[in-house]
Amino acid sequence: MKHIQLSYDQALDFVSAEKIAEYENKVKAANEALHSGTGKGKDFLGWLNLPSSIQEADFADVENTAKLLREHCEVVVVIGIGGSYLGAKAVIDALSNSFDWLMTERKNPVILFAGQNIGEDYLYELQEVLKNKKFGIICISKSGTTTEPALAFRLLKTQLEEQQGKEEAKKLIVCITDKAKGALRALADKEGLKSLVLEDNIGGRYSVLTPVGLLPIAVAGFDIRKLVQGAREMETVCGLDTPFEENLAAQYAAVRNELYRTGKKIEILVNYHPKLHYISEWWKQLYGESEGKENKGIYPASVDFTTDLHSMGQWIQEGERTIFETVISVKEPNHTKVIPHSEENLDGLNFLAGKRVDEVNKMAELGTQIAHVDGGVPNLKIELPKLDEFYLGELIYFFEKACGISGYLLGVNPFDQPGVEAYKKNMFALLEKPGFEEETKAIKARL
Ligand code: PA5
Repeated sequence: MKHIQLSYDQALDFVSAEKIAEYENKVKAANEALHSGTGKGKDFLGWLNLPSSIQEADFADVENTAKLLREHCEVVVVIGIGGSYLGAKAVIDALSNSFDWLMTERKNPVILFAGQNIGEDYLYELQEVLKNKKFGIICISKSGTTTEPALAFRLLKTQLEEQQGKEEAKKLIVCITDKAKGALRALADKEGLKSLVLEDNIGGRYSVLTPVGLLPIAVAGFDIRKLVQGAREMETVCGLDTPFEENLAAQYAAVRNELYRTGKKIEILVNYHPKLHYISEWWKQLYGESEGKENKGIYPASVDFTTDLHSMGQWIQEGERTIFETVISVKEPNHTKVIPHSEENLDGLNFLAGKRVDEVNKMAELGTQIAHVDGGVPNLKIELPKLDEFYLGELIYFFEKACGISGYLLGVNPFDQPGVEAYKKNMFALLEKPGFEEETKAIKARL
């Protein structure tokens, strides 16, 4: 069985193999703390054995719900923010045709997203596009009280009811939320809306393999069983019984922590396929929210190459030497495109004639790696044999597991996000939300 691969030989000019090997015991202890539930944030470890514990009934519930939406909707709007949308968006974009919205003969509904911002123009334009369209809604909020998705849901639910009538609209809405708590749970129960549960012990950013990610991915027409199968494989590869030298998550956690210790404070996730852009956005949330606390943590950044080689490439090559790169490399693209010969060769490109576009991309990748390492940027590489559900499932679980281990190596709780509350408190105070009277007085005095 082929798996995704991690290599860090291009980091060994900056951190020694001996130093990395010294992490073996610490990483083992971190992995044991995760599996025994004795570390920080131990109430949020539901993701750890999730892939292997998903049952046939869980798949069936998601697939049947997806089937109904697929049968009845031209467009499905997924409402959610942070961990309640990034995983689904990442997988759907990675697997979809890059020009999906222009496809005329559609087998799948168009998936749109809302509730991930409060842009008035965004919501206005979305509602205009949905006029006279048969659309459905998947509203996702673990807490059920997050302002951005709640606001989008109010607008879109009202529109759907106006367009379809209240009873018909009910059949086109699915809520994913806590089993008992929160306004979304109360609303779904009171109005008799279909709902799926996100278990208490799984945080938003670790929830892509729950209905939070699986339902939108299934509605988009992708194989959620293959995705989970990949994650299952990685559960073993990154498990407690896998020795350090074979354990991808353990190695990645060790290398990035050693790089951080030696002053590499920023990790840039790199891809060479634009459809992986949102994999990076998902990864940034996973690592940023998990490790950025107590005044520490690697800053997770991302670039899309070769596009950003023409913008950020300068900084990466010659800017402050506090960065390292982790490149997601796809071994074999899903399609073949050969560069044609030209008699006149006016563009001077005949030296590429007969080669695949991917050969050019791969040489850009190799040339960039050599240049960046020469320029003082350690490089790690994660190679996917190809871009499909299985290997994305592997990648997702690999990053989740490594994040848990890495957070423990850093000494933080990788499963909370206390810092996310600060802006909300101020926003509610400024909007004079009931219950925030004191905060309103205090913040207005500062203006
Ligand atoms: O990872 C997290 O916990 C957060 O990003 C949440 O997913 C995000 O804030 C949305 O929260 P909720 O699902 O409660 O609306």
